[in-house]
Amino acid sequence: MEDANTRMTNDPPAPDWASLALPDTWPDSLRLWHPRDLWRFIRHVTGGERIPVLLPEGLPGADAIPKYILQEFHNLPNGNYSRRFTRGYITGFNRVMLNHIHRAHELMAERFAGMASVLDAGCGGGHLCGQLRARGVRDVWGIDPSPYLLQHAGTDWPQVHFTHGVIERSGFADQRFDGITACFLFHEMPPKYLEQAVAECARILKPGGMLAICEPSPLQATRGAGQLWREHGWQGLYFYWLARFVHEPFLMAWHKLDLAALFARHGMVLEEDAIGMPMRHILARKV
Ligand SMILES: C[S@@+](CC[C@H](N)C(=O)[O-])C[C@H]1O[C@@H](n2cnc3c(N)ncnc32)[C@H](O)[C@@H]1O
Repeated sequence: MEDANTRMTNDPPAPDWASLALPDTWPDSLRLWHPRDLWRFIRHVTGGERIPVLLPEGLPGADAIPKYILQEFHNLPNGNYSRRFTRGYITGFNRVMLNHIHRAHELMAERFAGMASVLDAGCGGGHLCGQLRARGVRDVWGIDPSPYLLQHAGTDWPQVHFTHGVIERSGFADQRFDGITACFLFHEMPPKYLEQAVAECARILKPGGMLAICEPSPLQATRGAGQLWREHGWQGLYFYWLARFVHEPFLMAWHKLDLAALFARHGMVLEEDAIGMPMRHILARKV
């Protein structure tokens, strides 16, 4: 899996995720044919029961995962930490978002087509990394704190380097990348860590390097149902409901941020902030 032509000696480790044995977590042992386990599953996916993520003994890199990540984001049983539900999540996430996620990946990859090196922060199942490779980026990296998602990513996209970790402590050298992408990551981070994440992106970008971000549009969280229906039809109502149904503890804090000021604090310039429906595309440049 390692590509000797693109990997640098001081890059963080990129194990062969496909062959790594990962321990089961509690959702992996649910017997969904059993009424008690099925009820437990239903309580979690509907948001009726929510507990902190439990990491199993022997999970590689467990001590590097900050506490704020160990939550059941999107009402997923044990969040992004199970062998069983992460595969379904990778495809289900795009479906629930009515294919807007894959469209956003294509747009972001198109923007960075032909760049020499790009890091996808919060890469999840690696789909955006694959799109970047397909558009001629030779040196593509993905970073994510979930070894379970990285296992799928490494299996599906063997020409990409995937490393375990968080973007606010990426482990890459200064000025390592021409571009960084982050799709649906920043609204999952508390403001304190988001500040660190932008500082880290600025550190590992080359001068003139670009940060492309895609996040949920603030419209579905801040506008009324009636207005969304009038302006965006049934999709407006659907995303209004979705923004209130799924567990997104830091979403409103993200929507309130002054992005121009955030980037300026770290030597970056906000070049674009396109608020559409249901996506918001942001582009910042390191000066
Ligand atoms: C909503 S998912 C989006 C996945 C992927 N970017 C996509 O577009 O399909 C958010 C991802 O960010 C990861 N994540 C959460 N906090 C992170 C952090 N501090 N640094 C890097 N990745 C993080 C999660 O594990 C998860 O895979």
